[in-house]
Amino acid sequence: MREPALISVEDVGKVFPMTHSLLRYMRGMPQLSVNALNGVSFDIHRGETVGIVGESGCGKSTLARCLVRLHDCDSGQIRFEGKDIAALEGTARRQFNRRVQMIFQDPYSSLNPRMRVRQILGEALSVHRMRPKAAIPTRIAELLDIVRLPSDAADKFPHEFSGGQRQRIGIARALAVEPEVLVADELVSALDVSVQAQVVNLLLRLQEELGLTVVFVAHDLRLVRHISHRVVVMYLGRVVEIGPTERIFSAPAHPYTQALLAAAPEMDPRRRNTAPAARGELPSPLNLPPGCAFSTRCPLATDRCRAERPALRATENGHMAACHLVDTHAVTA
Ligand SMILES: Nc1ncnc2c1ncn2[C@@H]1O[C@H](COP(=O)(O)OP(=O)(O)OP(=O)(O)O)[C@@H](O)[C@H]1O
Ligand SMILES: [Mg+2]
Repeated sequence: MREPALISVEDVGKVFPMTHSLLRYMRGMPQLSVNALNGVSFDIHRGETVGIVGESGCGKSTLARCLVRLHDCDSGQIRFEGKDIAALEGTARRQFNRRVQMIFQDPYSSLNPRMRVRQILGEALSVHRMRPKAAIPTRIAELLDIVRLPSDAADKFPHEFSGGQRQRIGIARALAVEPEVLVADELVSALDVSVQAQVVNLLLRLQEELGLTVVFVAHDLRLVRHISHRVVVMYLGRVVEIGPTERIFSAPAHPYTQALLAAAPEMDPRRRNTAPAARGELPSPLNLPPGCAFSTRCPLATDRCRAERPALRATENGHMAACHLVDTHAVTA
């Protein structure tokens, strides 16, 4: 039997109130809000890499931030080893903050420009008292070795490194506290394509060697396919499809996933132009359609799709899609 989930995301909602416009206020109209996450549920198992994909604004970063508790959820809950993370306090909260680390897209803005790498890593090690003082230099050398930076990197400042190297420093800093989970939001989006693969391969190696659990949020579907065991596809704050990576890419069940892959034809040349592309604009998250959120753009939508929201349901082998028509149109491998 499979181990219980390390992290369970259970019906999570997150709402951002918009600043009240004067006009709406004067007319007595209700304040607008963005439903950034709307009933998101899925499990993350120990040692797996879960990719999160979807168009801009669909809630990927909001979800990543909720996972590390940079945001609190407005509804639902996130459980880490069965415990609601919103209820963690004191030592338990500090332990959670150590065990679940976020790595950022732009490490430059999160690395203190006036600190040498030695101090940056040393600080991370001492905050959580990871090593006695005397053992810190050895551990810094080890961390630089783990992320394949030369040992003289310790005496340099962040600006002396390239973007890819800075990303490695960010990863080394996250690893300093010996986390079990890394949440990477657009980790390599700002890097040159040639460097992206190196950083992603580093993450892949660390995941295997250290048995890390990784949540990998990215726009680039090729990178997601390369690194993830399972993929979560989001659309307007909801999970529309989830499944093993090869199933998602070879037999996507949801018309939105099919459109997303069709829009990235390099994913699979055989399917070029054969899957329906998403028509029209993404609806405003301030004004979600009542039924399936994708119904306004879906080439297959029926009256039922426009009226009734489809629940996520299993197709096979851990593959789930939220679509009323899933049995009739699924692309088969
Ligand atoms: N702090 C915030 N205040 C108000 N609205 C927010 C805030 N953060 C996110 N949003 C809104 O929530 C929705 C989801 O945003 P989010 O950043 O999670 O999307 P994303 O999938 O990460 O997009 P991208 O691919 O562009 O990074 C968007 O409509 C966004 O405008
Ligand atoms: Mg984002």
